[in-house]
Amino acid sequence: MKNFENELTRMLGIKFPIIMAPMFLVSNTEMIVEATRAGITGAIPVLNYRTDEEFREALEELKTKAEGPVGINLIVNKSNFRLKEQLKICVECKVDFIITSLGNPKEVIDTCKKHNIKVFCDVTEEVYAKKVEQLGADALIAVNSSAGGHAGKLSAGELIPLLKSVCNIPVISAGV
Ligand SMILES: Cc1cc2nc3c(=O)[nH]c(=O)nc-3n(C[C@H](O)[C@H](O)[C@H](O)COP(=O)(O)O)c2cc1C
Repeated sequence: MKNFENELTRMLGIKFPIIMAPMFLVSNTEMIVEATRAGITGAIPVLNYRTDEEFREALEELKTKAEGPVGINLIVNKSNFRLKEQLKICVECKVDFIITSLGNPKEVIDTCKKHNIKVFCDVTEEVYAKKVEQLGADALIAVNSSAGGHAGKLSAGELIPLLKSVCNIPVISAGV
């Protein structure tokens, strides 16, 4: 069989370099467990849980059932007043990676570095990509114009080569 090994598979210890994207009110623990069984990984938006208790319970269940690494998507701008507690739960439940959206990921990166949790940051432009790389992000999620949700303006064909030319960390495409 073809070997799909690359920086992402090595970083997470997965077979195929694919992340089942976090989807508000769509992603759930069963989906992520199936992703890990298939040799990929997946992430759930923390906003899918109304309370921190629900979030912790879901993560504990997920970590018991998953057959590979699992991720959580955190909103890191000021609208998320629950971020500190959510991050604490991610650390305590030993999440493998975090995808940050919509804001400055510094606090998340600094905390995760101490706990060996990888941090992948959503970016739509060169300027943010350079910023998060400098802050210590492990990879960029290149959110291009075909991505769902808060999509970027550039197509995958424009954004990915651009980010690869200015940054040295892996680039993961969000959108075809
Ligand atoms: C229904 C739906 C909900 C989404 N919710 C989120 C979300 O909560 N957080 C997030 O970072 N991205 C969200 N996205 C964007 C996806 O995570 C992903 O970046 C995008 O769909 C591109 O992935 P693809 O290349 O697999 O199509 C959502 C997308 C869809 C279609």
